[in-house]
Amino acid sequence: MDLKKSENNHSSVLIFCVNGDKFELSKVDPSTTLLEFLRTQTRFKSVKLGCGEGGCGACVVLISKYDPLLDIVEDFTASSCLTLLCSIHGCSITTSEGIGNSKHGFHPIHERFAGFHASQCGFCTPGMCVSLFGTLVNAEKNNFPEPPSGFSKITVSESEKAIAGNLCRCTGYRPIADACKSFAADVDMEDLGLNSFWKKGDSKDLKLSTLPRYNHHHKNIKFPMFLKDIKHDLFLDSEKHSWHKPTSLNELQSLLDLNHDNANGSRMKLVVSNTGMGYYKDREGYDKYIDLKGISEFSKIRKDQSGIEIGAAVSISKAIEILKEQSNSNFMSDFVMILEKISDHMNKVASGFIRNTASVGGNLVMAQKNRFPSDIATVLLAVDSMVHIMTGAKFEWLALEDFLDRPPLGLESVLLSIKIPNMKLKKSESSETKSRFVFETYRASSRPLGNALSYLNAAFLVQVSPCKDTDGTIMIETCRLSFGGFGDKHAVRAKHVEEFLAGKLLNVGILYNAVNLFTSTGTIIPQDETSKKAYLSSLAVGFLFQFFNSLIDSPARITNGYLNGYTHPPSVEASNIKENQKQVHHSKFPTLLSSGKQILQAGSEYCPIGKPVVKSGAALQASGEAVFVDDIPSPTNCLHGTYIYSEKPLARIKSIKLGSELQLDGVRDILSCKDIPNGGKNLGANSIFGSEPLFAEEIARCVGERLAFVVADTQKLADIAANSAVVDYSIENLELPILRVEDAVERSSFFEVPPFLRPGNQIGDVSKGMAEADHKVLSAEIKLGSQYYFYMETQTALAVPDEDNCITVYSSSQSPELVHSTIARCLGIPENNVRVITRRVGGGFGGKGLKSIAAAASCALAAHKLQRPVRMYLNRKTDMIMAGGRHPMKITYNVGFKNNGKITALELKILVNSGIYPDVSVIMPRNIVGALKKYDWGALSFDIKLCRTNHPSRSAMRAPGDVQGSFIAEGIIENVADTLSMEVDSVRSINLHTYTSLKAFYEDCYGEPLEYTMPLIWNKLAVSANYEHRVDKVKEFNRINTWKKRGISRVPALYELNLRPTPGKVGILSDGSVVVEVGGIELGQGLWTKVKQMAAFVLGSIQCDGNGSLLDKVRVVQSDSLSLIQGGLTAGSTTSESSCEAVRLSCNVLVERLMPIKKKLQEENGSIKWETLILQAYMQAVNLSASSFFVPSYNSMKYINYGAAVSEVEIDLLTGETRFLQTDIIYDCGQSLNPAVDLGQIEGSFIQGLGFFMLEEYETNLDGLVLADGTWNYKIPTIDTIPQQFNVEILNSEHHQHRVLSSKASGEPPLLLAASVHCATRSAIKEARKQLLSWSNLDDGSDSTFQLGVPATMPVVKELSGLDIVQRYLKWKMDNK
Ligand SMILES: Cc1cc2nc3c(=O)[nH]c(=O)nc-3n(C[C@H](O)[C@H](O)[C@H](O)COP(=O)(O)OP(=O)(O)OC[C@H]3O[C@@H](n4cnc5c(N)ncnc54)[C@H](O)[C@@H]3O)c2cc1C
Ligand code: FES
Ligand code: FES
Repeated sequence: MDLKKSENNHSSVLIFCVNGDKFELSKVDPSTTLLEFLRTQTRFKSVKLGCGEGGCGACVVLISKYDPLLDIVEDFTASSCLTLLCSIHGCSITTSEGIGNSKHGFHPIHERFAGFHASQCGFCTPGMCVSLFGTLVNAEKNNFPEPPSGFSKITVSESEKAIAGNLCRCTGYRPIADACKSFAADVDMEDLGLNSFWKKGDSKDLKLSTLPRYNHHHKNIKFPMFLKDIKHDLFLDSEKHSWHKPTSLNELQSLLDLNHDNANGSRMKLVVSNTGMGYYKDREGYDKYIDLKGISEFSKIRKDQSGIEIGAAVSISKAIEILKEQSNSNFMSDFVMILEKISDHMNKVASGFIRNTASVGGNLVMAQKNRFPSDIATVLLAVDSMVHIMTGAKFEWLALEDFLDRPPLGLESVLLSIKIPNMKLKKSESSETKSRFVFETYRASSRPLGNALSYLNAAFLVQVSPCKDTDGTIMIETCRLSFGGFGDKHAVRAKHVEEFLAGKLLNVGILYNAVNLFTSTGTIIPQDETSKKAYLSSLAVGFLFQFFNSLIDSPARITNGYLNGYTHPPSVEASNIKENQKQVHHSKFPTLLSSGKQILQAGSEYCPIGKPVVKSGAALQASGEAVFVDDIPSPTNCLHGTYIYSEKPLARIKSIKLGSELQLDGVRDILSCKDIPNGGKNLGANSIFGSEPLFAEEIARCVGERLAFVVADTQKLADIAANSAVVDYSIENLELPILRVEDAVERSSFFEVPPFLRPGNQIGDVSKGMAEADHKVLSAEIKLGSQYYFYMETQTALAVPDEDNCITVYSSSQSPELVHSTIARCLGIPENNVRVITRRVGGGFGGKGLKSIAAAASCALAAHKLQRPVRMYLNRKTDMIMAGGRHPMKITYNVGFKNNGKITALELKILVNSGIYPDVSVIMPRNIVGALKKYDWGALSFDIKLCRTNHPSRSAMRAPGDVQGSFIAEGIIENVADTLSMEVDSVRSINLHTYTSLKAFYEDCYGEPLEYTMPLIWNKLAVSANYEHRVDKVKEFNRINTWKKRGISRVPALYELNLRPTPGKVGILSDGSVVVEVGGIELGQGLWTKVKQMAAFVLGSIQCDGNGSLLDKVRVVQSDSLSLIQGGLTAGSTTSESSCEAVRLSCNVLVERLMPIKKKLQEENGSIKWETLILQAYMQAVNLSASSFFVPSYNSMKYINYGAAVSEVEIDLLTGETRFLQTDIIYDCGQSLNPAVDLGQIEGSFIQGLGFFMLEEYETNLDGLVLADGTWNYKIPTIDTIPQQFNVEILNSEHHQHRVLSSKASGEPPLLLAASVHCATRSAIKEARKQLLSWSNLDDGSDSTFQLGVPATMPVVKELSGLDIVQRYLKWKMDNK
């Protein structure tokens, strides 16, 4: 954009600051986001791209903006991926490295995140830190009482909510919550979990003194004064685009008129904060952007007796604040209550960093124009709001309802403001003086605190009065029942029901009729086929019931004249009511984590091994200085690529064309299989298990298969180009695709499992076992779906061509060795021409094993062909579509058992949907069976088939096969218990292995008797989790509660582990510092930290003076596939220990070389320092570099891990929501190498399992095209969906002599324990079903066997608890009057 003299003397240079650096830009493409600018044009890389749609928080920044009218600087967090760069004119931006860094000192937030072990891969951490920082900055501005020294003014509850919109896939949130809570004025230090600052039992004063000091008076950020003088209007113009920020309505009108008259159809967009783009992604930019924030009318707030008017550009956060403010005043009674509830509801819209900028008007326009499933439209519709519209020079006030009903708003019209009318005035028109308003809002969503669209939302406003002639019965005078969020309609009113209820005396019969009328008139019509119509309708009925039933149940409140609202004038009772009201709300949305306990023992034998040492580089990760692949600055001339993928499961590719306007500047090439060089091979992955093509050749064999790689000047352009691609498919002469496992069986389409990976097929004699059984369950079925990795960093690579036909590739991979060899074969060059470098990976969970290879190979191929560097950072949607994820499967089984629950035989047939290419599917049978054998089945036989289908190939995902195997076992146990009407826990206990049966089932890895810690764990957990007592309490809870039911469940897990050969290399430099290379990759699992500890321990055995600080001298460096070969695959949980062992072996060599010198020096000088020893060794030309290759021996190669968990949940029968009340885990880590790291793995893994079992629906269409393609529809756990009490004990079990320093793995096995949550949910549903049957007088327990699907999402739970539960209850009530 050329710098021009702009009209009206508007500023024509965009000016802002980032972390104090000033930027002045006159050439800006207005579609550029702040994130794009920061990541590509500045050195500030702490803002990460996790989703690009406002749903993850990885990109959060703090925006500071001067308000000249109030003469204050406002600070608020925002998602930089949605904020347009032009809209930050005059602002100061702070990123995580701006609040502190390694050069100028970390901020206490960074230090505490590190010390509380709250950062694993570190990709989410900078965003988390800024979210917390924003909350602290604003809290300090309040005139709350001074906090105790070292703390801030925030409360514990606020500190947890500060990160409610930020996703973390690694930690499980508990340690993050602790880091946040450590700043809260009201925190009880005893409640804070494991950290590196203090030890258990330290005094409060000592604890305080060790916590990195926070001074709430200290201003960490300074607003650059010159920004106060910047004119806030802006006009940037170029031949292609323009950005206008008018300052008056007249100016806006002229701009709109101009556009209207402009016949050449230039594309114009009105913007406020652009968060709408998170949902409605702009495929291309616009010609003209008009920013409405400069016009004061859009930001006004006017309050008077007639109501409250809110300017359309007012942010949702601001609106919440204003509406809340009214509750401090005691006037307008019912109206105040209504406003407070509206603000409470708004608090659950999106997340804090979205609400801070997202405007109320933008939300309503999206609802009006695009049918966005808005909460705000629903809530405002219920209270009869009005909207003020400007069309040309015409201004009109409209009822929101009429506005929503109108055809979509044209570009010539703008929404100026919204008015919430004062109900009190309206009420005075009514003849009934004693009447009151009752108002309530509802939203059912997978995350209680927001950051999830609701399945359905509703708001009900009812005017009621006590009926004089009856005993407290309530008369409904008028009502407005509004529903929204569910479909392709905007928010609607249930007018039939409103009319039916008006003038009626409320009782059970009327409510029953109202509900029936509601369901028969079809108010709720879901958006598409996949939406659960029956669930939505049932939810709506649940809301109606909740609302009206409370009026039937407690009419006394209205007869006293205090219904739901506040009395006027205020009285003692009134304030009580107000308090009650608040309490009701509190119990509806309790504080998040109440507490978490961690019990672990730090070993001292191998110090610093066994110590909870802080994760290496954690503070660097927090400040965002840690470098991930996409943070590496682009080399000159760098190009960017992305994929065009197949949308058909089996089709011939006739042609691929880009959208016409995109065959343009900047798109440099489209590579496909035709570009594989001579001598090379079309390889996208290659391992001992098989290979897959890099690009489809002629025929695409699954949805998501790579067809071509578009290479362009920027990532944005490459993405736009790939999006615009039109692929011409043909299915002529092709068979039908295989999409179901049953089809694969019919067509015998299977992958062969090599003999060395086959788990056998029988243990014991199944026919005999079946014959011994008293009962049999035959042909029972279990189905399991997929799960997406949701690593926060998507697939990424950077390939740089080098001299002599060489290439260096930076890859975010768990398997650089395979990346290396595949690239060499793909390009047809020797392996020593390729170098693959991996420093850190922003989360892998198996998804960056074989799946990362193609990303690196594509970049390498393009770089090789074009002889320019090529990089890719795959967008989240494409990543989700191509990923494949966890293996879905169908299980059929026969099980025989005795009257006492002892199982005698189990026969299984398992069909695994492996997708189209082998990937690592061949490991599945062994893994499934390994975990399934956790119980003594008497005899066991199985037939596992790996079905080759036309789906993306499934890959290993954390605990691949093991989690399914373990769950299948629980499903069978539950079925047996149900059949026998026994307590499930007794059936579990009776079928646990004895050491003898363990030996029979785990022939090659059962270990010594003392190593079998399962019975110990099982009993210990019963005591520590107070299991028996809580079972009774749950029963009592269920007896007295109708609409909520609880369940509790104890589940064991056994996990077979295998160690693989791993290399290690250790060098000591002349100053005594140590450099270590290992085969394993740091994925956040703490591998580097354990390796450092190992190096420090072994080298420390030389016992020089000052050895204490050896740990700080060790640096583990990035993996370089040419420097250390045979690195292998970082997978299977054991890479940390095998890397440690390789380092131990290398260090032993060095110790051996150094010992004689040390002894000699000691004899000469007495004591000797490490540095002196090393200097001497250098002088004596001792080789101070040693490498080794650890190859596990037969008896150390395999072992079993044990753990158990108790989980308690509560389900809501009206919505299907499950709350996770408490989880207690005991896990055997052997002698933990680092208990803090292992604790992090246990918690994080468990929460990822909880996601699999309860939340994450990886939905596809019939062709296999993933529909859950972003943060809007794929919901991983958040801080509000983890157990409210989360206790973990790491069992420091007996020495395991064959293990690496007696340690055991922790990365994957604890994921299996999350089945306890699912089983507890099933138990709660069982109670609900019993109750339902009792209402039909059929309490014979006949309905107790049922399947609870995985994931047990809200609709699934609700369906099993009774979609018509309300109707049945009301009918039962009526019949039993
Ligand atoms: C991650 C995320 C989660 C969300 N969750 C929820 C949720 O749970 N519930 C919910 O209700 N909403 C939710 N939202 C929607 C959010 O409330 C809206 O995106 C936001 O309010 C839009 O405001 P904006 O200022 O960013 O509008 P913009 O994005 O700037 O504009 C949105 C649209 O409205 C037009 N427009 C804006 N203002 C005007 C005006 N005054 N006159 C005419 N046209 C105008 C624009 O041209 C554009 O088409 C979520 C959004 C995100 C990103
Ligand atoms: S990248 Fe911006 S919120 Fe996810
Ligand atoms: S540490 Fe949070 S995503 Fe990895």
